[in-house]
Amino acid sequence: MRIEHQAKDWNELAQLDPHWAILTSPGKRFGGWDSDEFFATGTAEAEAFMRRAAEFGLPNARTRALDFGCGLGRMTRALTQHFDECIGVDISEEMVRGARDANADVEGLSFVVNHANDLSRFPDASFDLVYSMIVLQHVPDRRAIESYIREFCRILRPGGLAAFSLPSHIPAIYRLQWRRRLYLGLRRLGVSAGFLYRRLRLMPIAMSYIPERDMALVVESQGARIVTVDTQGAAGLMNAGLKDSSYYVTR
Ligand SMILES: C[S@@+](CC[C@H](N)C(=O)[O-])C[C@H]1O[C@@H](n2cnc3c(N)ncnc32)[C@H](O)[C@@H]1O
Repeated sequence: MRIEHQAKDWNELAQLDPHWAILTSPGKRFGGWDSDEFFATGTAEAEAFMRRAAEFGLPNARTRALDFGCGLGRMTRALTQHFDECIGVDISEEMVRGARDANADVEGLSFVVNHANDLSRFPDASFDLVYSMIVLQHVPDRRAIESYIREFCRILRPGGLAAFSLPSHIPAIYRLQWRRRLYLGLRRLGVSAGFLYRRLRLMPIAMSYIPERDMALVVESQGARIVTVDTQGAAGLMNAGLKDSSYYVTR
């Protein structure tokens, strides 16, 4: 699937229901998130993450952080409490526009749109932290996911930390992704995104995974290493058998 099409899907979601497109909590669909409550989840997540990272003594500096797939800047904003400069990157212009609006009151952060399967806009060894949670799972092409992971390793400073999540297993039934297929098919026939999302409750977003052993090969090919992997089963009957993994990588 071409990157422009992925950007279009995320742009449509960002216009329809941006907070829920990011955090799909029950009861929060169709504008149910309060903005302060939404951003407070980022503060809590960043604090928990920094405590976990401290267990490994990483990263060894707190100058610059990248939030890849930043959405509305929920985590970019929160990471400014821990890093001097934070940059949010997203495929969707609409998400980035929303992120700039929502975080105009915060210093030390900026947002950029990236329509590429690489991060060539950033030099080697330029970040102490690369953070990317609930993003790679939605990239439909495995080669693109691996390319981003190689890029995370490349732009990481020695002693830095790359932290990213990606399921290491999803059940076969879940891989069918019938809601996504139906959405994309009906959209091609001209049915509006609003109707598909609001009335039929369909979503265009992909769900990808990479087994843990394959991830290790990708990371090691870049001269980086996995410090640890936190894996847990996802909640809910629909997700039974899905394994969510969070990787902590350094070089
Ligand atoms: C579920 S949201 C998570 C947002 C954010 N990480 C958070 O936790 O608040 C996924 C975000 O990833 C972005 N995204 C999807 N594919 C991307 C890609 N190839 N490059 C950059 N961003 C991407 C989407 O536009 C969306 O904003």
